[in-house]
Amino acid sequence: MIIAIDGPAASGKGTIAKQVASVYGLHHLDTGLIYRAVAKAVLDAGYPPDDVGHAIEAAIALDPTKFDETALKAQPITEAASVVAAIPEVRQALMNYQRSFATQPPGAVLDGRDIGTVIAPGADVKLFVIASPEVRAARRTRELRARGEMVDEPEVLADLLRRDERDSRRTAAPLKPAPDAHLLDTTHLGIDAAFRAAVDIIEAVRTGRKRG
Ligand code: CDP
Repeated sequence: MIIAIDGPAASGKGTIAKQVASVYGLHHLDTGLIYRAVAKAVLDAGYPPDDVGHAIEAAIALDPTKFDETALKAQPITEAASVVAAIPEVRQALMNYQRSFATQPPGAVLDGRDIGTVIAPGADVKLFVIASPEVRAARRTRELRARGEMVDEPEVLADLLRRDERDSRRTAAPLKPAPDAHLLDTTHLGIDAAFRAAVDIIEAVRTGRKRG
């Protein structure tokens, strides 16, 4: 079973993906970490994230089994990740790893921007998780402050909107729901309610398939 969970920044897709993977006994991949790792490698080597040649080199050399999640979630890496993610050759270099991950038994949950559209278009269930920009900014601000980063909520909101715009406008695998994705709006849902809503959709799709 493959479950694709896409959506804009801080929509809650990562938390849902982790919990869904755990209850269904599936592998989980946060694909944002891959783009973050490429961005960090480029920055650490002293190049700007829009240095196409070095970004492609970093993507090809990436070892996705060795991620320092805490370092990759830092705010400066976030913006750079969305810049390297717009480079088609970077996405191409990272595709095989994601596809092999998705198809390993007994199945996997992948969260990102293009899982339902590009990486796993044949996924059994596709969710597209959204929430209002204000709620997303409040959640991300809380998350970053809990990790000790001094951030300002209006700035976090501006960063989210800029990144959503870049992710949606790029020509390579833009952020958009697959035609057969189920929309899940978490604006008014806490973590538990969002998880239950996701499971309801997954179960409805699965039982619908069995009957059909
Ligand atoms: O956690 P958040 O939603 O803020 O970000 P993320 O999922 O870690 O993704 C960081 C950046 O990586 C995004 O802004 C996208 O530009 C890029 N990304 C992508 O292009 N495709 C994916 N499948 C996952 C992330």
